[in-house]
Amino acid sequence: MSTRPETEPVPTTEHDVVAVGCGPCNLGLAALASTVDDLDLVVLEARPELHWHRGMMFDDASLQVNFLADLVTLVAPTHPLSFLAYLHDQDRLYPFTIRQDFHPTRREYEDYLRWAAARLPSVRFSHRVEGVRWCAESQRFSVHVVRGDGARLRMLADNLVLGVGTEPFVPTALADLPGGRLTHTADYLNRLSDVDEARHVTVIGSGQSGAEVVVDLLRRNLSGGPAVSWLTRTPSFAPLDYTKLVLEMTTPAYMRYFHALPQERRDQLTAEQWQFYKGISTATLDEIHELLYRRELEHGLADVELRCGVAVEASATDAHGRPVLTCRHRDTGRLFEHRTDLVVAATGYAPRRPTFLAPVEHLVRRDDRGRPLVRLDHSLDLADEAAGRRIFVANAELHSHGVATPNLDVGAVRNATILNAVTGREAYRLPKRTAFTTFAAPGGDR
Ligand SMILES: Cc1cc2nc3c(=O)[nH]c(=O)nc-3n(C[C@H](O)[C@H](O)[C@H](O)COP(=O)(O)OP(=O)(O)OC[C@H]3O[C@@H](n4cnc5c(N)ncnc54)[C@H](O)[C@@H]3O)c2cc1C
Ligand SMILES: NC(=O)c1ccc[n+]([C@@H]2O[C@H](COP(=O)([O-])OP(=O)(O)OC[C@H]3O[C@@H](n4cnc5c(N)ncnc54)[C@H](OP(=O)(O)O)[C@@H]3O)[C@@H](O)[C@H]2O)c1
Repeated sequence: MSTRPETEPVPTTEHDVVAVGCGPCNLGLAALASTVDDLDLVVLEARPELHWHRGMMFDDASLQVNFLADLVTLVAPTHPLSFLAYLHDQDRLYPFTIRQDFHPTRREYEDYLRWAAARLPSVRFSHRVEGVRWCAESQRFSVHVVRGDGARLRMLADNLVLGVGTEPFVPTALADLPGGRLTHTADYLNRLSDVDEARHVTVIGSGQSGAEVVVDLLRRNLSGGPAVSWLTRTPSFAPLDYTKLVLEMTTPAYMRYFHALPQERRDQLTAEQWQFYKGISTATLDEIHELLYRRELEHGLADVELRCGVAVEASATDAHGRPVLTCRHRDTGRLFEHRTDLVVAATGYAPRRPTFLAPVEHLVRRDDRGRPLVRLDHSLDLADEAAGRRIFVANAELHSHGVATPNLDVGAVRNATILNAVTGREAYRLPKRTAFTTFAAPGGDR
């Protein structure tokens, strides 16, 4: 705790850009900004060091994008903080090329992020943003920060970039289960002692996270681990659609096209395009099938059950404290009870609603569903009072920019767009053509 007396003025610094949160989005911003002249940018991260999805850090898990989707390459291929520069620095380029798998493992990607962060003096760990106010006197944002040692700081910023990520989502149907009987995939690897104690584990949800946890549980089952149930509301254990021309729907070209559509149409498309983001990679599906196949040949294994098209509608505990889930089979409407020892909610993530923005809420224009209006350059539509100042969002613009928003491969272009906007010049040249497909009607693409 700080020993600073209450009355002592809080040290104040001034910056062109204050970016909040240091996940891949804002770390990429810091990386690209590090080679732009005359730009004062700081990135504030609450945690003492960079961690990336540690609760899902399976030894063999790999990225869903290849190494070119690193922090910088897709707009600045010769940048000193590229993934290739990292491999070169670590003397691992030859093994990487001989491996001929250009999808880094999740562990390796986190190591790369930490390597890059260590080379960026603009990144400040143990700096939690507690409040953002509008300073009418300076016509800038006043960012209030608490450092890990308790010291308070104030930063005046022309521009903010919010890169605070998402948070684990647990549906109300599961939310009342006791903590000892429920975990979210985000915390799975920290809860292995509960898995080991359970005789029956139930995974709810069939995105990539649920599938990876099921792989782990099936492997454990093969070596004497608990029985496994996998229930999901999704109509099938569906693959992520990563086929080539469909992948063009996750390019900046499609983002630009999508952004110009009426909001109602954008909402319809986001719901229709679930297989571009809510699904399982083919490699993981193959592995699950292989584990099930091997399992069938073995005797004396605990039960395994897979059910799709099943929604969990409520939950309670029985007299022994075991979870009892009320489920609905969606095709027939039939209700049934499901009993288990431990529930793993693989039910995805929701946007983090940063409470620190409450004092500037009145500046943010919203749509009729309460979502912020986000411009093509990822800045929020702000009230006239804040004219000339901007708040950008990274990975909070699914409703405005479409389903590629969380993807790592749009990060470099988004960050270059933000840097071009704040510098008022072409700090980075943006790619003009990113898809062969034309999305607009004839005449509408000019
Ligand atoms: C298990 C998993 C694997 C994924 N793998 C891929 C993949 O392979 N390819 C892909 O394209 N996408 C992937 N994604 C999706 C996406 O790329 C990641 O979720 C990514 O981490 C998003 O980055 P981010 O910077 O938005 O947020 P985060 O990584 O969540 O970082 C946000 C940071 O903000 C900090 N923060 C929050 N509030 C404050 C505050 N008030 N003050 C200071 N700091 C604050 C947090 O501590 C956190 O460090 C994956 C998602 C998951 C869950
Ligand atoms: N290797 C990787 O790169 C990797 C790993 C993990 C995650 N990710 C990414 O992270 C993001 C989140 O993935 P995720 O797997 O955590 O979540 P997700 O894709 O959002 O999947 C959530 C699942 O939970 C189901 N569900 C929600 N509520 C339910 C209920 N009440 N009853 C039954 N089922 C319910 C959903 O069904 P509905 O379909 O009906 O909604 C869906 O199957 C994705 O973009 C993903 O690609 C990437």
